[in-house]
Amino acid sequence: MKVSTEFITPGQVLAEDIYSGSNWLLPRGIIINHKIIDRLKKWGVQEIAIEATDVDQQFNKCYEDAKNVLDNLFYDVQNNRAININPVANTIKNMADMIFNNNNVLKSFEHIRHREKYTFIHSVDVAVLAILIGCQRGYSRRTLYELGTGAALHDIGKVRIPVEILNKKNKLDEQEFIEVQKHTIYGHELLQSSLGVSYNISCIALMHHERLDGKGYPFNLHKGTLPEFVRITSVADVYSALTLNRPYRKRMTPSEAIEVLWGIAGKQIDLDILRLLFRSCSIYPVGCKIRLNDGRIGEVMQANPEVPTRPIIKLDGGLNTSSQVIDLNKQLSVVIEDLVIS
Ligand SMILES: [Fe+2]
Repeated sequence: MKVSTEFITPGQVLAEDIYSGSNWLLPRGIIINHKIIDRLKKWGVQEIAIEATDVDQQFNKCYEDAKNVLDNLFYDVQNNRAININPVANTIKNMADMIFNNNNVLKSFEHIRHREKYTFIHSVDVAVLAILIGCQRGYSRRTLYELGTGAALHDIGKVRIPVEILNKKNKLDEQEFIEVQKHTIYGHELLQSSLGVSYNISCIALMHHERLDGKGYPFNLHKGTLPEFVRITSVADVYSALTLNRPYRKRMTPSEAIEVLWGIAGKQIDLDILRLLFRSCSIYPVGCKIRLNDGRIGEVMQANPEVPTRPIIKLDGGLNTSSQVIDLNKQLSVVIEDLVIS
């Protein structure tokens, strides 16, 4: 499994020798520690191969399956073939089971998503995040399957939007924006006319751009009329979109995205659902490596469900000094700048 040097964690095992030209730098099989991570960065190594754990491998496979299944489904729809929802439902079921059973799956999720291209990743992302929120909400597995499938298909209507508009690097003009908005209607039409698609699933495609304050599209619906599946998918959709790279902008860090989400919570997206996302600890899970705004590196010791951008951090004190613990909720001038290792 290839991992960006930025996301390596101590304890992982190097799967391939590392060379610089003809110079042999590190042997495969070595257990990675902080010293080695520092060296790799000093040498300018961008990416290394690490041995995958069982959970990593399984989740990688789930993620790849989901991506391929969605790729095939979008291709079928583009070619006017009937939608067969079963492969999507099955792959989402596997993914939901893994998330339901493995707390550590989130680390794999972060590794995968930052390495991949945007195409289809966003759809799988939204499904994973929606399932995480659904788990926090106490949904049964059956309900999670339905939510995850609907979330994975939320943007399927985009197959009917011209690619030039979808990939446009500059701001859309008024007419183009009106066209893009139609993906909600198109998605609903496509899903409604497909066998085995529930009302809950097609509603997600139709309403995921509605806002609580009634200023969304396509129908300016208000909070009271938006089903919970839709409100969950909207939160997942915004978080995923903000934290993935696009051709026209760099991804936001989780902290930056959270600031945006807090800013629109209660107006555009549901605050209670946002809290469930934070409680799932998908932002800064325990054990993930972070970089602070003063340059120090640390590891999350304890999440803060109320203020997820301010967990308790165990600082990396370097080789000759002892580690230090810092509660970011009490040291307000210090903030997490970005994930180093998720
Ligand atoms: Fe959308």
